[in-house]
Amino acid sequence: MSILENITSSKYAIALEDKHGAHNYHPLPVVLSRGEGVYVWDVEGKKYYDFLSAYSAVNQGHCHPKIVNAMTDQAKTLTLTSRAFYNDMLGKYEKYATETFHFDKLLPMNTGAEAVETALKICRKWAYEEKGIAENNAEIIVCENNFHGRTTTIISFSNDPVARKNFGPYTDGFIKIEYDNLEALEEVLKSNDNIAGFLVEPIQGEAGVYVPSEGYLSGAKALCEKYNVLFIADEVQTGIARTGRLLATCGNCSCSDKHCSGTPEIKPDILILGKALSGGAYPVSAVLANDNIMGVIRPGNHGSTFGGNPIAAAVGMAALEVVKNEELANNAVELGELFRSELNKFISTTNLVNSVRGKGLLNAILINDSEESSTAWDICMALKENGLLAKPTHGNIIRFAPPLVMTKEQLLDCVAIIIKTLKEFKN
Ligand SMILES: Cc1ncc(COP(=O)(O)O)c(C=O)c1O
Repeated sequence: MSILENITSSKYAIALEDKHGAHNYHPLPVVLSRGEGVYVWDVEGKKYYDFLSAYSAVNQGHCHPKIVNAMTDQAKTLTLTSRAFYNDMLGKYEKYATETFHFDKLLPMNTGAEAVETALKICRKWAYEEKGIAENNAEIIVCENNFHGRTTTIISFSNDPVARKNFGPYTDGFIKIEYDNLEALEEVLKSNDNIAGFLVEPIQGEAGVYVPSEGYLSGAKALCEKYNVLFIADEVQTGIARTGRLLATCGNCSCSDKHCSGTPEIKPDILILGKALSGGAYPVSAVLANDNIMGVIRPGNHGSTFGGNPIAAAVGMAALEVVKNEELANNAVELGELFRSELNKFISTTNLVNSVRGKGLLNAILINDSEESSTAWDICMALKENGLLAKPTHGNIIRFAPPLVMTKEQLLDCVAIIIKTLKEFKN
């Protein structure tokens, strides 16, 4: 078969990847060739609801025309200059994004992991140059069961053995504490003068959609202020309306989101964004901070050939416009509540599922089985047969994160598919 021909057999496409690609993922055996809004189609033409949204990257729905148009228009005009020169899109995007998220400055990168790395570097440099920590002594507090990406430094502070084993030696300078535990945080802060920052996910997505207790994030931010430590929010997965606000730490924004409290108390010192910052159309990530922090970064300290390229800038602006214009945060709140309440009704009648948890449209169900079991995988396979794609985060946890452009009717249709599928399993 010529590489120019369209693939029409899932089996063939899977065999190609299996033979020629590294085996660093374990995908569900479905081969997608088209997407539109909340739907994707496989190469045989079967239609599915996407209930993963590329791990919350496709919040604006597949191939959103405004985002695709911005991307293709820009692709025909200017794609890449590198940062050796200025381009006429980056400044506009930086102005737009910093005004949207209320920070002085943005540092553009491409992937989530790169943005996390960037935030860690900024935090360390701030610690040496502004806080006065002795060189090479800065430490950053992270949480158990975190997921911040796959680079060597990031996996150094992961506690997932599969992500870590045989990738050492690891990067020093991280202290791990229990998530959702303010006492543990203060314990470290008060006993160690070398703490530069606290890196946290507002909801732990990969760990299985763990929503911390009410007041945890604001409490952590207050402790960081008390001990002069930077509060670094990794909103790569939770950001861009996924959890019902523009950000899960949503602070003093002036967005049109009617659910936004407008309270500034959990504004991060450093904000990390990725995934849906491009609506899934292009790799776009960013780190935002105010001048007193971002000012430590000077020419030559950090960079990326592709970071801040004109296509990324055009796509980033269009993707944020869509979130605002289509009020996706409000939709996430309303559909999220509906989703959890419908599933809770079913859960009260079964022993198969223990609970549903989440915020906005970032949710998960906890299956009544061990973490090592294959039940969640088996359920995802059955969901696929029934026309809905989702993926386990653990043997007993399935994450549900559909595009935020979903309608109420579509959501109820999906709930019906999920319940019908769960009923196929014994409890
Ligand atoms: C919270 C969080 N941070 C960082 C990342 C890494 O992003 P990327 O896969 O784009 O490197 C992810 C990816 O799932 C994530 O969920």
